[in-house]
Amino acid sequence: MISLTQAQIDTLIAAALKARDHAYIPYSGYGVGAALLTLNDGLYTGCNVENAAYPATICAERVALVKAISEGERQFGAVAVVTANGGAPCGVCRQMLYEFAPDLRVILADTAGGVIFDGALKTLLPLGFGPEFLNVHSS
Ligand code: THU
Repeated sequence: MISLTQAQIDTLIAAALKARDHAYIPYSGYGVGAALLTLNDGLYTGCNVENAAYPATICAERVALVKAISEGERQFGAVAVVTANGGAPCGVCRQMLYEFAPDLRVILADTAGGVIFDGALKTLLPLGFGPEFLNVHSS
């Protein structure tokens, strides 16, 4: 797992908090912001985007991830996620992050600045299923 300075952690949380302002949440009212750090110091943010057809909703973490992937990024060190009350990434987001970054560091914070969790994705998704089981590369 990557080591980060307190300044880097603060920057990530601030970026996630700002992204949360853009959350499109007419149905749940529950805003989520995410900020994903690449291994070469790139930063990609995301917010949740809901839909009248509820299952079409996409979570903030996956928005940040697909933005980064679509810009050619493949290597990630950490993600910060901010919610009002410290809500953790859903199982689908954990799995999608695991595909590209099994050693990802996950920082969960609330809007008051409290850090609820700072640890490994592998702790949140033990025995994750990755591309190695299919004998292919994730490039
Ligand atoms: N949500 C996220 O954006 N990330 C998660 O990992 C958990 C849930 C969103 C989806 C939906 O817009 C709202 O939170 C309530 O479920």
